[in-house]
Amino acid sequence: MAIKALRGMKDILPPTSAQYLTFLQEASTIASRFGFEYIETPILEESALFLRSVGEESDIVGKEMYRFIDKGGHDVCLRPEGTAGVVRALIEHRLDRQGGVHRFFYHGPMFRYERPQKGRLRQFHQFGVESFGEASPYEDGAIILLAKSILDHFSIEYTLKINSLGCPKCIGGYRERLVAFLREQEGLCPDCQRRREHNPIRTLDCKDPACQERYQEAPKISDFLCDQCHQDFTKLQEILNQEGVAYEVDPTLVRGLDYYTKTAFEFLSGALGAQSAIVGGGRYDNLVASLGGRPTPAIGFAIGIERILELIPPPAQERTGYYVGALLPDGVDRAFHLAQRLRQREPTHFEAAPKSLKAHLKGADRRNVRYAAIIGEEELAKGLVWIKDLVAKREYSLPVDEVAEVR
Ligand code: HAM
Repeated sequence: MAIKALRGMKDILPPTSAQYLTFLQEASTIASRFGFEYIETPILEESALFLRSVGEESDIVGKEMYRFIDKGGHDVCLRPEGTAGVVRALIEHRLDRQGGVHRFFYHGPMFRYERPQKGRLRQFHQFGVESFGEASPYEDGAIILLAKSILDHFSIEYTLKINSLGCPKCIGGYRERLVAFLREQEGLCPDCQRRREHNPIRTLDCKDPACQERYQEAPKISDFLCDQCHQDFTKLQEILNQEGVAYEVDPTLVRGLDYYTKTAFEFLSGALGAQSAIVGGGRYDNLVASLGGRPTPAIGFAIGIERILELIPPPAQERTGYYVGALLPDGVDRAFHLAQRLRQREPTHFEAAPKSLKAHLKGADRRNVRYAAIIGEEELAKGLVWIKDLVAKREYSLPVDEVAEVR
């Protein structure tokens, strides 16, 4: 039987692959304008990194990790997300000890053994940013504006939801009240029953409609925020208002990863069906310290590239470049040399098989080029190239050097 890609893993073929590259280039340019620099971290990391950051009680770590013991006996896993690896790199290279602000962007494959469905893959790609060393809500504002700039650049429509998850100071009191509330609830789903003791806040993110219904009545974290968290969340809203960003405060937005503190946000698209989150992010002011680094405030987000590509219209198919071929075997060398010179400045397709003019023109049309450049018997003898401009619908002959000249 033919071998196929694994379930939930997708090839990205042309023309989508061209859109993928364009997205990376333009998102990178926008992130650079906001002061972010490129970072690349390994896809494979020690499993402990994700256990201690994303959290043992999260679905991602509890159910979805591609985790195995390598040949050296190390417990490793394919990264399910990008933040933990960047934090590990920050600490390992002692950037947390240097002080100041460090801002990084990255992109690449992430792996989660989820149940595949539309918009939910087991290998998917993220474009992410992480900012370290700045606790001000202006950084939260800039990060949200960066995500918005990328979505706006590609004319993607979205709704933005924000929430504050508080800091350890305010979360303690809230957790107690939430646990008391959860204990009063009967018939919660098994996940929520388990989580109400170990990780009660994550129950609010449960997808079970019956649980969701009950949580409408749950105590809200916004009523428990300490003065500083309240002030910062209010300031963030002022910043977003000032910049004309539309958003909704959603007190049930808790995110699926355990490292978040204070600001959490998601950009959602109404055009994607059930898997509507296109960007997820937030603050994680305690993560650097909890992984052994110097206490460093941090905030970031990640965009799901496959979901974004569903929302970007295909680019206009403009005819560009050259198709070069020969009518007879004798002309193929000349055609190859011409193609090699043209490639210095234009996208060029070289056709190795000599064939009739009609067949070449069909090939040129299929390749969506602007010019067909053909070497026939007469052209070979006189050092010419026969050209058809497929846009202007003109035909003419020119000396080879004139066509190939670098403009
Ligand atoms: P996340 O919300 O788990 O956050 O993922 C971010 C985005 O990745 C989602 O909004 C979605 O677009 C995409 N995504 C997630 N899972 C899948 C999947 N199975 N198939 C396709 N796309 C998916 C994080 O990963 C955090 N590291 C974001 C962050 C960075 N927070 C702070 N810094």
